[in-house]
Amino acid sequence: MSTDSEYIAALIDLHRGRDRQGPGDSDFSCHILSNLATLPLKPRIADLGCGSGAGALLLAQHYQSTVVAVDSAAVFIDELTARAKQLGLDRLIMPIQGDMANLDRSVGVFDLLWSEGAIYHLGFDRGLKLWRPLLTDSGIAVISELSWFIDRPPDPAIAYWQNAYPMMGTEAENIDRANRSGFRVLSTHRLPSQAWWVNYYEPLRERMQQIEITPITRSVIHETEAEMRMFERFSDSYGYTFYVLQAV
Ligand SMILES: C[S@@+](CC[C@H](N)C(=O)[O-])C[C@H]1O[C@@H](n2cnc3c(N)ncnc32)[C@H](O)[C@@H]1O
Repeated sequence: MSTDSEYIAALIDLHRGRDRQGPGDSDFSCHILSNLATLPLKPRIADLGCGSGAGALLLAQHYQSTVVAVDSAAVFIDELTARAKQLGLDRLIMPIQGDMANLDRSVGVFDLLWSEGAIYHLGFDRGLKLWRPLLTDSGIAVISELSWFIDRPPDPAIAYWQNAYPMMGTEAENIDRANRSGFRVLSTHRLPSQAWWVNYYEPLRERMQQIEITPITRSVIHETEAEMRMFERFSDSYGYTFYVLQAV
């Protein structure tokens, strides 16, 4: 029987050395950025739950401005630091190993808050309320959240996500949550399912072949494969929606 911390350590290990620790896509992110309202010339930016830096590195490159990048996992912060150095972006990346639920304005006040695939650790509602004070007046937040795309998803998908993420909402529910948490919703964008496979699940499958198999890693792999099978069957019903929000 493994403890929660052993399980999380194995999950982190499975995600090591990957460009992303969750579904996302650089071209898709650039498209969102190119449609954002004008930000100050050198915007103050944060990437929360940054993992090894897929978002933070892209943001630093795009804006040539400092990005505060927060993640609780030391291994991902180390990977981000090494990647930033390799790309000559280390002067723009401020990595912080810490808890994104426990940030206050001493960490900074931001014109752009970015978070991909991470807010579910806090719950969308709670995360929005915790992060709203970190934004400047009219500051922008771009946050991806696992969302139902339809009102009546198939029963097996409901049963799976009721267990894995019971707080998962429809896009309409999440828009409502954002409106009640001090934001105006500017736009929403669904990450194409192809991005899940090419940028996330396939690199994870490669890693599954490489890691040492122990009872804990076997159970992490089984659960990840179950998630993949669910997505294979029901990606029309749910996925990541990027919510572009403005502080009001
Ligand atoms: C699905 S991954 C996404 C990582 C990255 N944003 C990406 O898209 O590649 C979620 C990340 O949130 C981090 N995380 C989970 N709980 C956290 C917390 N309380 N504070 C900071 N980071 C956290 C995990 O370590 C992990 O790197």
